[in-house]
Amino acid sequence: MPRWRQELTKSLHQSRSMPESRYFQLASVGLSGEPFCRTVVYRGLTDDNHLIIISDTRSEKFTQLMHNANAQVCWYFSKTREQYRFSTRANIKTLEHDEAFVQSYWEKLSDA
Ligand SMILES: Cc1cc2nc3c(=O)[nH]c(=O)nc-3n(C[C@H](O)[C@H](O)[C@H](O)COP(=O)(O)O)c2cc1C
Repeated sequence: MPRWRQELTKSLHQSRSMPESRYFQLASVGLSGEPFCRTVVYRGLTDDNHLIIISDTRSEKFTQLMHNANAQVCWYFSKTREQYRFSTRANIKTLEHDEAFVQSYWEKLSDA
């Protein structure tokens, strides 16, 4: 297991009483090269160390990340005063391309 995953798991555990600790900022690159940043909810980690985010194919982030997979995540844990920054590449899964994966996470979402 990579060290960052061990540290992140520890931070999440230490901040488990604070629901806002499960939000982080996801930045992508706009179609003209400009930065875009927004808040998203942490939905877990895959076995191969990808952060999971659930979104909508109608959103700008979907269009942007399909066009340019470069992304950055910035995540601050106020309780432990730790900041994580991940420079990464998005691996997008849609219902059309990986129905079982998308369905398994969709089923975990609340109705709200
Ligand atoms: C606390 C919070 C959590 C959010 N979580 C998500 C999320 O998990 N997925 C998502 O697509 N948008 C989430 N949003 C909305 C995004 O921040 C953003 O407004 C929306 O996805 C449209 O972004 P885009 O047009 O850049 O794609 C969240 C917003 C807030 C304030």
